[in-house]
Amino acid sequence: MSMLEQFKEYTSPVLGRYFEDFEVASGKGCYLYGTDGKEYLDFASGIATCSTGHCHPKVVKAAIEQTKKLIHTCIGIALYEPYGSLGKEIRSISPIPNSQIFACQSGTEAVESALKLVKYATKKPGIIAFEGSFHGRTLGALSVTTSKMKYRDGYEPLLPEVYISPLDLSSVEKIIKEHQIGGIIFEPVMGEGGYKVISPIFLQGLRKLCDNNDVLLIADEVQSGVGRCGKWFAFEHAGIVPDVITLAKGIASGFPLGLCVAGRELMAKWSKGAHGSTFGGNPVSCSAAIATINVIKEKSLLEKTEKLGNYLIKQLKKLQKKYSQIKEVRGLGLMVGVDFCDNAIVKKIMNFCLENGLVLISTGGDGTVIRFVPPLIVKKPQIDKALEIFEEALTK
Ligand SMILES: Cc1ncc(COP(=O)(O)O)c(C=O)c1O
Repeated sequence: MSMLEQFKEYTSPVLGRYFEDFEVASGKGCYLYGTDGKEYLDFASGIATCSTGHCHPKVVKAAIEQTKKLIHTCIGIALYEPYGSLGKEIRSISPIPNSQIFACQSGTEAVESALKLVKYATKKPGIIAFEGSFHGRTLGALSVTTSKMKYRDGYEPLLPEVYISPLDLSSVEKIIKEHQIGGIIFEPVMGEGGYKVISPIFLQGLRKLCDNNDVLLIADEVQSGVGRCGKWFAFEHAGIVPDVITLAKGIASGFPLGLCVAGRELMAKWSKGAHGSTFGGNPVSCSAAIATINVIKEKSLLEKTEKLGNYLIKQLKKLQKKYSQIKEVRGLGLMVGVDFCDNAIVKKIMNFCLENGLVLISTGGDGTVIRFVPPLIVKKPQIDKALEIFEEALTK
């Protein structure tokens, strides 16, 4: 049985997939290797997740050493070193004073945790989220997700007291005045909604509204965080500090880990046992996360990401001038989207690129955006190679 036949026979058809029969055997750095031995330049990074590239030696070493020592015990049963050490590492990079972590395993769980923390701490049930946002697929996170209505179809009714607002401050203010709002959740750069960068002025206004109305601000940095946008957190570009941060994806270079980060005072309002998880903060994932943060620091990947991201955007804007199918180029750091007139073109480009050794995937409510999210260790020649294949696709 081929890999595809096996997949079709034994796994649920519910999974949406970008490519029908792309089979990989291994990955190293910015490259994936197909079962046919072909090399692919990976500008999808497992959906913005393999931040230090595939199988970075320092991440592999940390994970192997931890695997040999202890794989699991559950933090509810016994303390183990990597969980607390990761909390310390996060405090060293987090603008939230005296930050503490609650660890889980995925982005959607980090969002669930943040929503639960905010409801619990404020004793106010209402949550505001923004039109076009994506926060995850479990029922709480799905309740604040509207990037594609397909995600919600068949699952309504979802969480009550969720208010979906347009991205304007007067609408947000009106909702706050009319309802008991505990928290507002936002993505600094909308990921699944099409790589839209939210304006710093809007985020500064949101911060003020929250301060004036005793509302907590949650920055969902699951996709945009951990250096992806050229700073540890994308909200730093707006000069604001949220009350809660959610992290996952790039934090552990591909090991499953989600984090809900908040200040000590806020965390203290979450009573013992009010939330928890069996696997959350798994020792191997935490060790991989510590190694990931160290690699980002040692290799100055924040500065490099900002520089290379600007270069990538500049080159893509040149292509925009040449090819009328491109509507817009936008992004921050190495989270860059190219918006096209329709999604049929996008699918053709993705397939052409894959055939020619470049993995690019789409995003956006209508799938009209091609995203460039290479590992943060990417080098300029690899960006140039990706641009070359991408341009060839445009000419076809
Ligand atoms: C901003 C944001 N939040 C939450 C999630 C959900 O993360 P996960 O797929 O790990 O549950 C995603 C995933 O794409 C995301 O981009």
